[in-house]
Amino acid sequence: MRDNIIPISLGAAATGLLYREHSIRTRAERLSAATFETLLNTIDANDAETGAHVRRVAAYALVLGEDAGLDERTLHSIERVALFHDIGKLHGALTDIFHDPSKLTPEERRAVTTHPQRGAEVLAPLGSFYPELPKGVAAHHERWDGSGYPRGLKGRRIPLQARVVSIADAFDAITHRRRYSAARSFSEATRAIAEGKGTQFDPDLVDLFLTPEVLAKIEAAMREANAPRKKNTGPRQREVRSTPDVNFRWRPRSLGSQSRDRQP
Ligand SMILES: [Fe+2]
Repeated sequence: MRDNIIPISLGAAATGLLYREHSIRTRAERLSAATFETLLNTIDANDAETGAHVRRVAAYALVLGEDAGLDERTLHSIERVALFHDIGKLHGALTDIFHDPSKLTPEERRAVTTHPQRGAEVLAPLGSFYPELPKGVAAHHERWDGSGYPRGLKGRRIPLQARVVSIADAFDAITHRRRYSAARSFSEATRAIAEGKGTQFDPDLVDLFLTPEVLAKIEAAMREANAPRKKNTGPRQREVRSTPDVNFRWRPRSLGSQSRDRQP
């Protein structure tokens, strides 16, 4: 009889420890999701247009990343880099420039090129948990041939996350109306991506992007992004033209009915 008591107590203690560990992990995941969501809200509050842009870029980047067969962890990191790649544009030194529809002066153009590094600096505290985030954000304007900025990184020295996001970013920049340029067609955008193969963009990723399967998914994501959708804004609901509501896919299922309960 006494022999049974010890194993049962040990079993209960182990279960308790496991439960405690699980609940600590869940809280950490929720805190992480809340942090990212707060950051995204900050982008929306400062510049809703950039908030919409980064969500579309995240949707396109995930299509490309998934078709590249990347693992879940890498897909999460791509999503984070996509969502926060332009956070540096919110810097006080740059907001007026980005909101001015007139042509940029050479000095303003130089200032604009600082936004990847400024973004990386904003995100630096998260770098201990997500090292790929500031690195990917800093590199999203690097070019495959080494002629990009800020560091002139070349080829595979450019983080994969940044290589994927740069194609998605260019695609959205072309197909979506901006203050200083009209939206161009889907086929014009694919032509521009094809032309950037091996110069601006990773050639393998361009080949994948231009396959009929990926283009069909990108087109579907684009349609969804441009469809009017209901956005819950509290007691009232209003009709908005918005982008796909990118779920924080690392958010535990209990925090959102549509989230996909994945690890950070
Ligand atoms: Fe950018």
